[in-house]
Amino acid sequence: MAKTLIAYFSRADENYFGGAMRYVKVGNTEIVCDIMKKLIPADSFKIEMKEPYSPVYMTCIEEAKRDLRAKARPELVSLPASIDEYDTVVLAYPNYWGTMPMAVFTFLEAFDFSGKTILPLCTNEGSGMGGSERDLRRACPGAAVKAGLSVTGSAAANAEGSLRRYLSANGLL
Ligand SMILES: Cc1cc2nc3c(=O)[nH]c(=O)nc-3n(C[C@H](O)[C@H](O)[C@H](O)COP(=O)(O)O)c2cc1C
Repeated sequence: MAKTLIAYFSRADENYFGGAMRYVKVGNTEIVCDIMKKLIPADSFKIEMKEPYSPVYMTCIEEAKRDLRAKARPELVSLPASIDEYDTVVLAYPNYWGTMPMAVFTFLEAFDFSGKTILPLCTNEGSGMGGSERDLRRACPGAAVKAGLSVTGSAAANAEGSLRRYLSANGLL
C-alpha cells in the first residue's frame, strides 16, 4: 500500500514574528506538520541536529550562514532505519538563507530517493521556496520533485486551507 512520510526540520526558541522577536515552544514548520498529520495518514520524522543552532535568533542566523557557506552536513540525532516503504515524502523545512537548512541536506544524502515522489513545503517570511526546489532536485536525482508549497511561517497556524488544496492537488487528500 502507498505510504507517506512527513520528514521535517523545525526550530523552536527565539524567532521573528511580524516585527518582533518572540520565544516559542513549537517552530512554524512543526505547526504546519502537526496540522498535516491530522489531515492525512502518514508517518513522521523530525530531522534534528546533534548540536542544534542557538536559541538566540541573531546567533542562529550567523551559525546557519556559516554552515551554508561551508556546505556543512551537520550530524543528526538519528535517521530512520530505512525509507524503502514510502512512495511519497513530504519534506518540510524553513527557508534558511534561500534554501533548506544544511541538516536537511544531511538527511537527503543518507538515502536513495529515486522512484519516490517528494512534495516540498517551505515556511518562510517572504522568500518563498527560494532555490530549495532546485537544490532538492540536485540532491535527489531520480525522484519526482513536485512544485512546492510556500507557507508564511508566522501565519503557520492558518495553513489548513492551503495545505488541503496542496495535498488534494497531489493526490494525498
Ligand atoms: C537561519 C535563518 C535563516 C532564515 N532565512 C530566511 C530567508 O532567507 N528568507 C525568508 O523568507 N525567511 C528566512 N528565515 C525565516 C524562517 O524561514 C521562518 O521564520 C520559518 O518559518 C522558520 O521555521 P521554523 O520555526 O519551523 O524553524 C530565516 C530564519 C532563520 C532562523
